[in-house]
Amino acid sequence: MRGSKYSVNTRLIYSVALDMTQPTALFSQTVLHWFDQHGRKDLPWQNPITPYRVWVSEVMLQQTQVKTVIPYFEKFMSEFPTVFDLAKAEQDKVLNLWTGLGYYARARNLHKTAHIVADKFKGEFPNTVEALNDLPGIGRSTAGAIASISLGVSAPILDGNVKRVLTRFYAIEGWPGTSTVEKQLWGVAETNTPQDRTGHYTQAMMDLGATLCTRSKPACGICPLQPECKGYELGTPTAFPHSKPKKDKPVKASRFLLIVNSKNELLLEQRPSSGIWGSLYCVPEATPVTNSYQSKLPDYVIKEEWPSFRHTFSHYHLDIEPVLCELVESPSPSTIMEANSQLWYNMHQSLEVGTAAPMITLIDQLKQHLKG
Ligand code: ADE
Repeated sequence: MRGSKYSVNTRLIYSVALDMTQPTALFSQTVLHWFDQHGRKDLPWQNPITPYRVWVSEVMLQQTQVKTVIPYFEKFMSEFPTVFDLAKAEQDKVLNLWTGLGYYARARNLHKTAHIVADKFKGEFPNTVEALNDLPGIGRSTAGAIASISLGVSAPILDGNVKRVLTRFYAIEGWPGTSTVEKQLWGVAETNTPQDRTGHYTQAMMDLGATLCTRSKPACGICPLQPECKGYELGTPTAFPHSKPKKDKPVKASRFLLIVNSKNELLLEQRPSSGIWGSLYCVPEATPVTNSYQSKLPDYVIKEEWPSFRHTFSHYHLDIEPVLCELVESPSPSTIMEANSQLWYNMHQSLEVGTAAPMITLIDQLKQHLKG
């Protein structure tokens, strides 16, 4: 738990300037203070910390959770205690030890990088983010993690957990997959990264994201960053990071027939049980765009075509084109009257069967028309 003095201090300084462009020593101090009390310090790759061990762990952790990685990491280290052991291993052996971790390109790149480090760098990992970033399978964030955790370099990281913490803290709008948002995030990641104790800060940011600032149930009540968290202040921390925008929905259009008889009753028919509006009573669809059946309709004449309106389903928009029609009364009994899936609806009464929302709109439009 935070000391009260600590949170008061946090509030004071941030209330003066919560400016993403300014270095915020207090952010890192808050995170480091939390790390000292709650951060993870007994993970296998933390004891002992070496660039080789941290590199292997970071690559394993790229798409995989800590608890899954631990036994793989331990087995890997007992088989390949040094980067030279890994470099001289058969690729099949490396892939075999990776079995179950998935994303096998990671293992192939790990092996390639082991060769480069063993041969070109005589077993010593390069100590700059840029040089690490040039190695197969090491992106900017992994390079930052290796550099800060194992080489004492002050470098930012921006993995999924850290993106979540930062987008919430600053209430950053937009999907982090866009280059604009990503750039903004790297900016704040960089601004907040301290010069000293960067490794602890890196580990703390990952731990905060993994343990408190979780995707769907963040523990804001015990989060050290909560007093100044914009997402928390807005009351919607889980709205951040914004999700990937949905693809535009396709638009379909279909003509719906308002067939009216001489008593001003409207023809409704029950739709098949599968498909949209399954089993509901609706006006017939003239062009079967949304259905796979063709109903047997009485004779009618088209009187008017009305402006379309849009109804949106989860996967597409449907532009409903209402067509006013008049029944051609035949002297012989209509076959449709015998079909129990069709009915003539007296619009002065309440509808006793199930229907779809756009049908209510159509019925209302028709009522208005008949009144006028
Ligand atoms: N995810 C990626 N790197 C990690 C680390 N060093 N500790 C915990 N989770 C991580």
